[in-house]
Amino acid sequence: MKVLIVGSGGREHAIAYAVAKSSHVSKIYCAPGNAGIGQIAECVNIGAMEFDRLVAFAKEKEIDLTVVGMDDPLVGGIVDAFEKEGLRVFGPRKNAAILEGSKAFSKDLMKKYNIPTAAYENFSSPEEAKKYLETSKYPIVLKADGLALGKGVLICNTKEEAMAGVNELMLDKKFGDAGNTIVIEEFMTGREVSVLSFVDGETIKIMTSAQDHKRAKDGDQGLNTGGMGTFSPSPFYTKEVDEFCKKYIYQATVDAMKAEGRPFQGIIFFGLMLTEDGPKVLEYNARFGDPEAQVVLPRMKNDIIEVFEACIDKTLDRIDLQFEDNAAVCVVLASDGYPVSYEKGFEIHGLEQFETKEGYYVFHAGTKLSDGKIVTNGGRVLGVTAKGADLKQARANAYEAAKLVTFENKYMRSDIGKAIDEA
Ligand code: AMP
Ligand code: GLY
Repeated sequence: MKVLIVGSGGREHAIAYAVAKSSHVSKIYCAPGNAGIGQIAECVNIGAMEFDRLVAFAKEKEIDLTVVGMDDPLVGGIVDAFEKEGLRVFGPRKNAAILEGSKAFSKDLMKKYNIPTAAYENFSSPEEAKKYLETSKYPIVLKADGLALGKGVLICNTKEEAMAGVNELMLDKKFGDAGNTIVIEEFMTGREVSVLSFVDGETIKIMTSAQDHKRAKDGDQGLNTGGMGTFSPSPFYTKEVDEFCKKYIYQATVDAMKAEGRPFQGIIFFGLMLTEDGPKVLEYNARFGDPEAQVVLPRMKNDIIEVFEACIDKTLDRIDLQFEDNAAVCVVLASDGYPVSYEKGFEIHGLEQFETKEGYYVFHAGTKLSDGKIVTNGGRVLGVTAKGADLKQARANAYEAAKLVTFENKYMRSDIGKAIDEA
């Protein structure tokens, strides 16, 4: 069959890699893709938000299945646009992708269905928000309701910071209409875990756990980024935590969406915080994590096409989802200066060494082909993933592998996966 993948980052490269392993697939296209994806798929120059052109392309090439990696097109209704034309597509419809697209919606859903999460209030008036902040406990968390490239969350230590935050989100509209409504929520502490799952509207199958490193600098210092590295599984995601989440969070979320007339088919990514009072949901995403996909998918044993199809056909209960009994670590190689400002266009060396190394992967994020050479083309350039028998081995392998690739201005964190030493 022919598969079209929509997106252009490291996550989409990891999806393309898994799709390429499927015995059912004869041809992969990716829109718009990147230089790495271009080695296993044919990249087409159509943007992820150009639904009409994507639909036309899928019809012209007789694509059997389209897989959407990114949040923006999902929240914008790409799945509805494909379904309307009778095309098969993997991902939630617009009325279900709202689980990620509106934090106010997801908080209200959790409250209504007793799913553990931080206490909160939603505000669409800056005056009301400020009034509430007068008597709040600090620190406190402000979140833009809509999509904000993962940057719409402000942790405010004082009332002054919080008031300035309301101005930034609601009046200055730093994230545009995403800040028309904000969520103000209780500050929680604990370890964070990412749990991805496949969902067919009724059945949910949990993937192996992972942990992201969102800050730019070692020791979780510096600015928030799209993610500087991941490890999987998380040793903090114990059997006890798993049992709790299965009982109170995972199926409860799927059932809640169904009860609301918004059946969710696709990936639900649970951003969890393991607090003293038990696991709580920090956020939902409606897609694979980036760079969580880069450590979770290489460990998946199933043919991913069969799992995608089961989600679409509502037969996920028949899939025995299995992961290798090992570990993986992904170290992101970024352009120095990310996430603020950085130069691009530098040639990348050493990539060919990954072609022959079993258990090592280099997923492209911000790269492009220029005069036949692969050059840097973004803040996050590559994600180097290595597997190992356990997390320590995987981490050692990933850092060895990260040395194989060189480019001017290469920057990485040196402590990805360090937390496992505390487990
Ligand atoms: P989100 O986009 O909701 O996942 O938020 C981004 C990051 O902000 C999370 O990964 C947490 O590190 C942090 N965060 C979000 N909500 C809270 C909260 N209620 N308490 C503490 N930290 C939070
Ligand atoms: N790594 C976090 C995310 O994909 O949202």
